[in-house]
Amino acid sequence: LDRPAAFAEFERTFGSGGPIAIIRAPGRVNLIGEHTDYNDGFVLPIAIEPEVLIAFRPRTDSLIHMASAAFPDQRLKFSLQDALAPGPPSWSNYARGVTATFIAEGISLRGVDALISSTLLVGAGLSSSAALCVAIARALLRAAGRDIPPQQIARLCQHVEHEFAGVPCGIMDQMIVAAGIENHAMLLDCRTLEMQHVPLDPARVQILIANSMVSRELAGSAYADRRRECNEGLTFFQRRDPQIKALRDVTPAMLPPAQSDMPETIFRRCRHVVSENARTLEAVRLLEQNDYPRVGVLMCQSHASLRDDYEVSAPQLDFLVEESMQISGVHGARMTGGGFGGCIVALVHPDAVKNLSDHLTNEYAPHFGNPPQIIVTNATAGASVASP
Ligand code: GLA
Repeated sequence: LDRPAAFAEFERTFGSGGPIAIIRAPGRVNLIGEHTDYNDGFVLPIAIEPEVLIAFRPRTDSLIHMASAAFPDQRLKFSLQDALAPGPPSWSNYARGVTATFIAEGISLRGVDALISSTLLVGAGLSSSAALCVAIARALLRAAGRDIPPQQIARLCQHVEHEFAGVPCGIMDQMIVAAGIENHAMLLDCRTLEMQHVPLDPARVQILIANSMVSRELAGSAYADRRRECNEGLTFFQRRDPQIKALRDVTPAMLPPAQSDMPETIFRRCRHVVSENARTLEAVRLLEQNDYPRVGVLMCQSHASLRDDYEVSAPQLDFLVEESMQISGVHGARMTGGGFGGCIVALVHPDAVKNLSDHLTNEYAPHFGNPPQIIVTNATAGASVASP
């Protein structure tokens, strides 16, 4: 639903009148800095135009009534006094999780009627769950007349992913969804949550996202495996230097001497993380000079590292990246998000967007049976109050 339709659907579901407001929360795509967030490293995501919307109205009692435009038969009702536990996988876990987490933090809430809708693909690696979680958080806070810093919202929403959705994610998705700035990428230090907003000039560069349509069902366990492998690698570096607290503290120069200490696979996982942190900081330096071609080179190197060292790509993602690089005006492309499926992201001159979109649409289907879904976007703002 778009914003007027979300507003109308709210009135149809819960009746008209009273102070109805809308919160929007965007999806995200990561330009570079992949599988670094849970190693205390650096990431460079943008918030994208597709979004989750929550139309809501405070209630005078302590009941939470929620409906979802996508699942009209699933109504959620509970009281702020209820003991809230995770249920089977569903959007409603995020509503229960945010409520329970806020209450446990001592953040007092009041009841709401709320209708959730979305223009964001679900399960494509564009952080639809972080968008949903942050949107619910912002709606509940606003209904209660409260405000807390975006870093705290992101931390609480990450906790909800861990405890109510069983997803052991890092902090990147929640931070960019909560705190992105229009026409800027966000360099995030995932150790301190310090942010630097880096301008992206929409007249000179656009972001094209192509969804491979490959389901990411296996990603859950593989993601946890990579986290374990990183922790295993960390212990080898810590034997050499106890000051090292995370792979973030390992410099590229420390890699070769440590290679013989550890199993080959673990070494490659560490080499990805260490080199990816360096590439991410270098990409920011180049973006500050509007040097998009060289940022693109780093994105392609990031993809190769994720494919060969970290082993989280998929043939479909490799194909989309390789085909993207055939088109003149495409600066760089790489898989984005957790991997094993989901999307690629390309950094493109605005004049080349149509060529790239047509090319991927024509080339992909004969090999993989369906066209990719294409999204063209500029960097948008993090979650905010939207005018209906
Ligand atoms: C998923 C997680 C993020 C991050 C990426 C990989 O999207 O939710 O926290 O770890 O994978 O960069």
